[in-house]
Amino acid sequence: MRDGKIGIAVIGCGHWGPNHIRVFRSFPEAEVLWAIDIDESRRQRIRALFPGLPTEKDPRVVWADPAVDAVVVATPTKSHFELVKASLQAGKHVLCEKPLCTAKGEGLQLAELAAAKGLLLMVGHVFLFNPGILKVKELVDAGELGQLQYVSATRTNLGPIRSDVNAAFDLATHDVSIFNFLLGAKPELVSATGASFLQPGVEDVVFVSLRYPGGTWANIRASWLDPKKVRQITVVGTRKMVTWDDLDLTSPVAVYDKGANAVPEYADYGEFLRVTMWDGDVLLPKIQMQEPLKNQNQYFLECLQRGRVEKSGPDFSVEVVEVLEAIEESLRKDGAPVRLT
Ligand SMILES: NC(=O)c1ccc[n+]([C@@H]2O[C@H](COP(=O)([O-])OP(=O)(O)OC[C@H]3O[C@@H](n4cnc5c(N)ncnc54)[C@H](O)[C@@H]3O)[C@@H](O)[C@H]2O)c1
Repeated sequence: MRDGKIGIAVIGCGHWGPNHIRVFRSFPEAEVLWAIDIDESRRQRIRALFPGLPTEKDPRVVWADPAVDAVVVATPTKSHFELVKASLQAGKHVLCEKPLCTAKGEGLQLAELAAAKGLLLMVGHVFLFNPGILKVKELVDAGELGQLQYVSATRTNLGPIRSDVNAAFDLATHDVSIFNFLLGAKPELVSATGASFLQPGVEDVVFVSLRYPGGTWANIRASWLDPKKVRQITVVGTRKMVTWDDLDLTSPVAVYDKGANAVPEYADYGEFLRVTMWDGDVLLPKIQMQEPLKNQNQYFLECLQRGRVEKSGPDFSVEVVEVLEAIEESLRKDGAPVRLT
């Protein structure tokens, strides 16, 4: 802490890291003290964007600086584990970009380390702070939709193309985090197929099916090789249905009073099914648009002040990694179902 402000350092200043710097600089209770990147051209860009902000190649300056309270890790996923571990070992709280790491075992190690050191570890599952998703969660929790039958997600775009992880770890992470959040559980069964067209062994597109406790099914199509940017979710309940479209800036959430019921009926000739359908009003709830990253990082600062993290903390984030690992395993087995314990 310096001058009563929470000292922040950002490691990884490529596409996403500068957004963390911009957002943390907008909070009066925080001060961004360091921007770290191994690439000089990225550091140059940071100096142009944020004049006066010290930049460095080596993260050790951050770990050695007593004014740094918390570290944001915004480097490629494969490097998260080592950087988060070293930051915690240096006594720094950590906000790590999604996903926390690439293996459940690593995630558990990080969670244990944070707990042993009394430090906060939060992961940037940014959609948990998206006003549209929060509205959907509110509807689910209030029972407005009835029992959830299935949820589905489409997350596509042309790029950004990664080489350290596949489209499941990079893109479907978001949808897994959204579904685990909405349903309040992790799936019990996962099956996934996918294909690598650009780099061997790195799936550009994945098709994932997940079964959650209580029989709710989920489906995710995630691709960075697609002509169109789409970020959509559909939630189908026994009473109502909801759609969320992140790219619809005025009405991202629509609640459909629509559905179908199958009722067994009995007549002289035996039992038959009568399906009744209804098609009522569509409600577009008013949603206050706020930048999700700003909400997320504000929450992180509040957690630091309170000394505990409840949302997107280690347990939740390790479960997301566990699901991603199961997706990976199923991909390697041509879509064979993988059970989570
Ligand atoms: N929450 C979101 O919506 C969102 C969006 C984009 C990216 N991300 C996440 O942010 C992370 C970074 O993604 P990106 O798109 O910015 O990637 P990027 O490749 O554009 O940037 C990563 C940066 O990290 C630097 N770097 C790599 N290893 C380093 C190390 N050991 N020390 C210091 N710097 C290092 C690279 O030079 C590069 O500038 C990923 O985990 C990604 O999943 C999240």
